[in-house]
Amino acid sequence: MTKTLRDLLIDALRDAYSTEQQLLNALPEMAKAAQAAPLSRLFKDHIATTQAHVRRLCVIFEELEEAPEGKVSLPMEGLVTESQKLAQEGLPPDVLDAALIAATHKIAHYEMAAYGNLCGYAASLGHSKAAKALRSSLAEEKKFDAGLTAIAKTKVNPRATKSAA
Ligand SMILES: [Fe+2]
Repeated sequence: MTKTLRDLLIDALRDAYSTEQQLLNALPEMAKAAQAAPLSRLFKDHIATTQAHVRRLCVIFEELEEAPEGKVSLPMEGLVTESQKLAQEGLPPDVLDAALIAATHKIAHYEMAAYGNLCGYAASLGHSKAAKALRSSLAEEKKFDAGLTAIAKTKVNPRATKSAA
């Protein structure tokens, strides 16, 4: 049961760990579903980043002498399911990419919110090393999110608009 800020930190860390594991499983499929090469590459590149995020979380769990397992992130389960459904909807390629980007923005923002919360808890509890590591992951999630926006603006949305015309 969550009683203290430390309990809240552990619970949120486990949610983040589950989130990253779910994303790690989903990213190869997302890369395959993406039609535009830069989008597929962005998803593939995010695999290594996600692995690094998992490693960072493992180090933090070790330092806190807690186990990473024990929680399934239900919001992430929903977000990943929504993104997986898109590939089966028979959408035109550019529209599929636009939809994949939108679904992945939601995933990235969930992760950004999670890491933002975690940074705050870790810093408040005096775990400065953990807070620093979590800030690095937060910065990388923001970079991933910005990468999605750039591809949407420069490639996918203009093409999707044209194909609808
Ligand atoms: Fe991540």
